[in-house]
Amino acid sequence: MEIIVVKNDQEGSEKAFELIKTGLENGNIKTLGLATGGTPLKLYAKMREAKLDVSDVSTVNLDEYVGLPADSPQSYHYYMDQELFNSLNFKETFLPNGMAKDLEAECKRYEQILADHPVDLQVLGIGTNAHIGFNEPGTPFETKTHVVELTQETKDANKRYFEKEEDVPTHAVSMGIASIMAVKEIVLLAFGESKADAIQQMVEGPVTEDCPASVLQNHSKVTIIVDEAAASKL
Ligand code: GLP
Repeated sequence: MEIIVVKNDQEGSEKAFELIKTGLENGNIKTLGLATGGTPLKLYAKMREAKLDVSDVSTVNLDEYVGLPADSPQSYHYYMDQELFNSLNFKETFLPNGMAKDLEAECKRYEQILADHPVDLQVLGIGTNAHIGFNEPGTPFETKTHVVELTQETKDANKRYFEKEEDVPTHAVSMGIASIMAVKEIVLLAFGESKADAIQQMVEGPVTEDCPASVLQNHSKVTIIVDEAAASKL
């Protein structure tokens, strides 16, 4: 793991942007893995502003809520449209379909998409409980794309995006730990003090399913970009 400590999220987003831009320009990134949440917003703003030519690049997203249609403002489809897809000319973009009638079949379909589009670089955030994607503590490391029941901690962290707490979906479809570990390169971003424990456990703790992000210690190419607050317990 390479750990880069930056002053703030602005600086961290610039670093991540440079990594992605270089990979796109030299042709190393043909499939870009994307994350949602608050963390990558400044990175996506930079990508929009730079008007990157991504006409030969495919994207895959980590996860989507179950039961929210793509045009629902809280869905990750909607988020991605707003933040990137309406602005940049990606060749094709993929997210799990959380509205699928048969969610198990949807998980299989998504694994096939990942097999057909091996991810060259995956952008990751991290939950306060060290989840990656929506892989909550206790998720077996060999898990592929699966249906997840969200923990109370994750629902609490995400309820700020919803009008009422009971509107927060209870389930999501998420790339699994094994699907994430199969990507060629990972750039994980974390900003703010609320992520400090998760970062400390991920980097210095044992590799255990109780701390999903700790599995990244076993990946050969991971860059962690953290601000001073998120790095404060290292
Ligand atoms: C969400 C997403 C993750 C994201 C994490 C952190 O639950 N499923 O992909 O990395 O939580 O979110 P934020 O960046 O808003 O802190």
